[in-house]
Amino acid sequence: MPALVLLGAQWGDEGKGKATDLLGGSVDYVVRYQGGNNAGHTVVVGDQKYALHLLPSGILSPGCTPVIGNGVVVDPSVLLSELSGLNERGVDTSKLLISGNAHIITPYNVTVDKVTERFLGKRKIGTTGRGIGPTYADKINRVGIRVQDLYDESILTQKVEAALDVKNQMLTKLYNRRAIATGQVVEELLGYAEKLRPYVADTVLVLNQALEDDKVVLFEGGQGTLLDIDHGTYPFVTSSNPTAGGACTGAGVGPTKISRVIGILKAYTTRVGAGPFPTELFDEDGEALRRIGGERGVTTGRDRRCGWFDAVIARYATRVNGLTDFFLTKLDVLTGWEQIPVCVAYEIDGRRVEELPYSQSDFHHAKPVYETLPGWSEDITKAKTFDDLPKNAQNYVKALEEMSGAPISAIGVGPGRDETIEINSFL
Ligand code: GDP
Ligand code: IMO
Ligand code: MG
Repeated sequence: MPALVLLGAQWGDEGKGKATDLLGGSVDYVVRYQGGNNAGHTVVVGDQKYALHLLPSGILSPGCTPVIGNGVVVDPSVLLSELSGLNERGVDTSKLLISGNAHIITPYNVTVDKVTERFLGKRKIGTTGRGIGPTYADKINRVGIRVQDLYDESILTQKVEAALDVKNQMLTKLYNRRAIATGQVVEELLGYAEKLRPYVADTVLVLNQALEDDKVVLFEGGQGTLLDIDHGTYPFVTSSNPTAGGACTGAGVGPTKISRVIGILKAYTTRVGAGPFPTELFDEDGEALRRIGGERGVTTGRDRRCGWFDAVIARYATRVNGLTDFFLTKLDVLTGWEQIPVCVAYEIDGRRVEELPYSQSDFHHAKPVYETLPGWSEDITKAKTFDDLPKNAQNYVKALEEMSGAPISAIGVGPGRDETIEINSFL
């Protein structure tokens, strides 16, 4: 069972970083397959806390080869500063591999992200402002810059020129900004080339050979299912495919190779940025979830919107990803509530709806239908087995499992590596 996908089952920030790090010790390769430095993963190892954005969380496990796949968008300056930050803390990053086909987030992509958001005003997406959308747009428009382009100055110059041709018209005429000079961008990008060279590789070949050799490969999603460009709450989404299929296109591995798909599911729900969120709370319960759960963005420092668990979304994630298991995180955050509401269905214009509606107008009108489960007050952070949990916590987990459509194979009871209850082994 060598290839596993680990992805977010909600709107991101489910605790993917911790889950990947936990498995990292027993896998040979950890691969990012989409997104870029819009991701923010906090990993706690002993008394050390690491914030990762672009690098796969497997970078913290010695013996594991971290890979940035072709589907990722790479901001070279962010990558290099993340690498040097880890090196300063004694983390060996020399095994990192970066696909030559991954696209580069250029300085003008970051500018375009920021100005378009400002231009949208009230209708803005609330992006992370890291240039993600514009870089993927350039990729699809076939005017993107790839990592391999850094090693051919003439091609690089032609491509940057072509990309800036239209963008400068837009920046100067529509957004009233200064034009960006080709030479300046080329010079900046060439400055990264030699520093990145040791890492650049044919990652598709490396990963497929690893799978043939029965090595264990873990694909680590950024963002989450409901932020997927195809399957999420469009247009309030990111510009890539965090869902399971994205692992195949974003790493060049066939679907027949994937043996397990693990959905990371928070015991309640959070979202950053704009867009519909049926179980969002605007009262003291929402405030308490934010405070106790530490729900503040790792990348942008924005407060996360918080709400109760939504089983409709979890069922949807099971379906579109073909989930084989869930990893339920942050159960400890719910300790202390006497009663815990869980959304089991929606009411849309007077009708009860059990599944996520495909129509955005319906989803915008969806009101949660709650079932209330009894809570617990005992500290669960030291629990090592399912039986160590108080009865009501066990029943909460069992109820979520039944509603969500896949077995819960692990439970997070704290941010640390060892604060996890393993029910079924992932490997
Ligand atoms: P990611 O983007 O999915 O990797 O998640 P983030 O790192 O953005 O947010 C998850 C936060 O929850 C991080 O601060 C983790 O350290 C923390 N965390 C992960 N699992 C648990 C858990 O089981 N309990 C608690 N209390 N915190 C957790
Ligand atoms: P991790 O990997 C939560 C959200 C942004 C915005 C939308 C589009 O830490 O779970 P983008 O910059 O991607 O174009 O922004 O997606 N978003 C995330 N929300 N966690 C993330 O990553 C996110 N990455 C992007 O807030 O609403
Ligand atoms: Mg995050």
